[in-house]
Amino acid sequence: MHLPDYKDARTRDKRGYKRVSFKFSDELRNKYRNKSYFIKTYGCQMNEHDSENIAALLEELGFTLADSYLDADLVLLNTCSIRENAHNKAFGMLGRLKHLKNEKKGLIIGVCGCMAQEVSVVDEILRDYKFVNFVLGTHNLYQLPNVIDAAIENNLQQVEVFSREGDLYEGLPVVRVNPFKAYVNIIYGCNKFCTYCIVPYTRGRERSRAKEDILKEVDDLICDGYKEVTLLGQNVNAYGKDLYNDYNLGDLLEEIAKKDIPRIRFMTSHPWDFTDKMIEVLGKYPNIMPSIHLPVQSGSNRILKLMGRRYTRESYLELFHKIKDTVPNVSISTDIIVGFPGETEEDFLETISLVHECQYDNAFTFVFSSRDGTPACKLKDNVSISEKEERLQRLNKVVNYYFLENNKKLEGATLKVLVEGISEKKNMYYGYSETNKLINFVSEKDLEMGEIVDVLITSAKTWSLDGKCK
Ligand code: SAH
Ligand code: SF4
Ligand code: F3S
Repeated sequence: MHLPDYKDARTRDKRGYKRVSFKFSDELRNKYRNKSYFIKTYGCQMNEHDSENIAALLEELGFTLADSYLDADLVLLNTCSIRENAHNKAFGMLGRLKHLKNEKKGLIIGVCGCMAQEVSVVDEILRDYKFVNFVLGTHNLYQLPNVIDAAIENNLQQVEVFSREGDLYEGLPVVRVNPFKAYVNIIYGCNKFCTYCIVPYTRGRERSRAKEDILKEVDDLICDGYKEVTLLGQNVNAYGKDLYNDYNLGDLLEEIAKKDIPRIRFMTSHPWDFTDKMIEVLGKYPNIMPSIHLPVQSGSNRILKLMGRRYTRESYLELFHKIKDTVPNVSISTDIIVGFPGETEEDFLETISLVHECQYDNAFTFVFSSRDGTPACKLKDNVSISEKEERLQRLNKVVNYYFLENNKKLEGATLKVLVEGISEKKNMYYGYSETNKLINFVSEKDLEMGEIVDVLITSAKTWSLDGKCK
């Protein structure tokens, strides 16, 4: 048993790590042939992609995918710690699973993902959720087959959570959800330690994958017919810093852009590490999609400082405009937190004025949620919850206004859309534009999924656009 520890999780020394090739145990292959699994995923794209690895590990063990958690022999929650509501959702689901397990004694229940790295969560599971068969940390994914096997064979609660990142495992199997769009991890962890954020504790130190491994994965995806890759990391802009002297995300993007892949995306970019080389590469290669997620969090310098974001309102705006001026038709989205401890009405109005200046194409807005073990959790907070909620509503009105305004400008334009499916409700095709806007559209001829087609935009809505295939 390994339990999480925050002191360890905070450490950032230069301890080396090995690159290890994952090998699935021959003894365990297909051992659980007649059993089924269901994974419930919370949180970000990194968790979604981890679930694709988890699904593949389970399938190598012999499990098959169940239609619902109600029919499954094994239910795994891949959890997220970012805000309290993600945390509450996972515990709500555990409550439901407890009832299910009373009816189905052999049900195996596992918890993995970021919440598994939280000391208080693991304590609570050990104390009050004894029906959970295993807890597996984010640094322990490669141990999943052995942990499940031990949980079933010994019928004892297994907890395997390393607080510190271990070796970097390459070659984990993967079952991808989307046949045309693939996630590719390029960097794990985060060293930024924004004062509100739990990710540096749950995902460990920044560790880049070797460029050869990434390029090989992209080559394999191209061979398999994928049309789009999204390079993933909590802060992709830090790519390479821990491995190379002179090779960063700009270089990696350029190498991938020279390959025969129509669409390349990357997320998330912390404004701090956004280099000129990256902006130049973005402007130069048409297969790097002109869509950038650039979280600002707040428009007030006082709050940005308290958040430990390492940039000012002015330097953010300078970067924002540089990207807008260099990359044709770029769309920029953002994340914003309101109600950070001590945020005044004036601070909040600075965020609103920044939104008026940036007129974002998309924005994810949140009320500050205090996370155990982070520095912001100790800050004095005299802003009431109702005031925070009210600020969120006001902010949402402004961001929504610009989503619609930006979309309206596209009426009459022709956009390239990657066809992803047919929405049953609307009986229309749907897909995403290069700028990552959701397009619902009709077509006179039958279209292949995964095709990239020209769509004439006929009408704009706040969160989507309607169109007609040309
Ligand atoms: N690595 C990314 C963000 C990952 S978390 C970045 O720095 O840009 C996604 C978003 O969740 C953050 O951008 C932030 O807006 C929000 N978030 C993170 N911690 C939060 C907290 N404690 N309360 C509210 N929102 C939070
Ligand atoms: Fe969290 Fe900041 Fe790291 Fe993003 S950059 S994951 S907000 S600590
Ligand atoms: Fe959540 Fe962990 Fe992602 S906290 S946002 S699942 S990195």
